[in-house]
Amino acid sequence: MLNNKNNHISIMAKQSILITGATGSFGVKFIKNILTSEEYNKVVIFSRDELKQSELQTYFNDERLRYFLGDVRDYDRLNEALKGIDIVIHAAALKQVPSAEYNPMEIVKTNIHGAENVIKSSLNNNVKKIIALSTDKAANPANLYGATKLVSDKLFIAANNIAGSRETLFSVVRYGNVAASRGSIIPLFKKINEKNDESFPITDERMTRFWITLDQGVKFVKDCINNMYGGEIFIPKIPSVRIVDIAKAINSNKKLKIVGIRPGEKLHEIMFSIDDAIRTLEFKNHYVLIPTIKFYERPHDFISNPKGEKGIFVDNNFEYSSDKNDVFLSVDEIKNFIDTI
Ligand SMILES: NC(=O)c1ccc[n+]([C@@H]2O[C@H](COP(=O)([O-])OP(=O)(O)OC[C@H]3O[C@@H](n4cnc5c(N)ncnc54)[C@H](OP(=O)(O)O)[C@@H]3O)[C@@H](O)[C@H]2O)c1
Repeated sequence: MLNNKNNHISIMAKQSILITGATGSFGVKFIKNILTSEEYNKVVIFSRDELKQSELQTYFNDERLRYFLGDVRDYDRLNEALKGIDIVIHAAALKQVPSAEYNPMEIVKTNIHGAENVIKSSLNNNVKKIIALSTDKAANPANLYGATKLVSDKLFIAANNIAGSRETLFSVVRYGNVAASRGSIIPLFKKINEKNDESFPITDERMTRFWITLDQGVKFVKDCINNMYGGEIFIPKIPSVRIVDIAKAINSNKKLKIVGIRPGEKLHEIMFSIDDAIRTLEFKNHYVLIPTIKFYERPHDFISNPKGEKGIFVDNNFEYSSDKNDVFLSVDEIKNFIDTI
């Protein structure tokens, strides 16, 4: 069903959706969320590992789900999976910062060549909307993971020109550390705590990170699907945490052992830098980085969004940085969140 006003497809109409990396932290939460409503009549899971997929099949009992084993590096397989798909959420990625430093070509193949394949097969199959997930590490990247995600962001934004007057729209959602996602600090510290180890390893006592829960990430991505022209990098307004406060929230009696920053890590993260400020719009709950390039077939100034909300340009000296954030979570707030997991 088309919403004639903006020629955008409403998320409320029955659609088919494919999620690359659907067996990961984001993917599982996203699927759980969308299956609670009738908005999708087909939900395709696309990832490599058969065990994770068979575990999902046991967990979800829903006829709308389809399981595709495949690798985003493999264009032909993606192209097959995308037949008849209206919306793609591209969540598949390699994302461990140190591992990327040691295995550079592997992360390039998945995060960059994979992105290119998602773009090409989406265009080939006339997919209507594509949202690619990105990370704060892509802003002024200090590590290869962030650099590959920056390249991926640029590929998705530029793809709107390749689409030309076709209906296919590409946007990016960029956010910070997802609390308690696979391989993140909360599961690590909880394991250390259960093992009764003497101390928590802390890279640097000053370290801060942006913080978003999976539920918030899923909701934000869903909102962006309904609110995109194509070409935006959407960034939610989210709080920061001090890494030492996460340790205190898990066990305030345990010592902290300073182990030093890992290969490629930053002390603080930024969502966008001063260099980006000139093209950044602030909305009530989020920012939008507008494209550096012109879209010849469907020009937009992005100042008002499809929902009719108006954005204003941020100050030229503004940098959205995890250490200078207005909102930090307290130890108690972190503790309350951990208790709900
Ligand atoms: N977690 C965070 O803190 C965070 C923060 C900001 C942004 N993000 C971004 O959010 C997205 C999702 O993250 P996540 O936390 O859900 O990651 P995750 O839990 O590590 O899941 C990654 C998913 O991608 C799949 N995958 C990996 N390589 C693949 C390939 N070559 N082809 C197909 N599937 C592949 C994995 O399954 P198989 O191994 O079975 O293929 C898995 O389903 C990523 O793009 C990440 O960069 C994450």
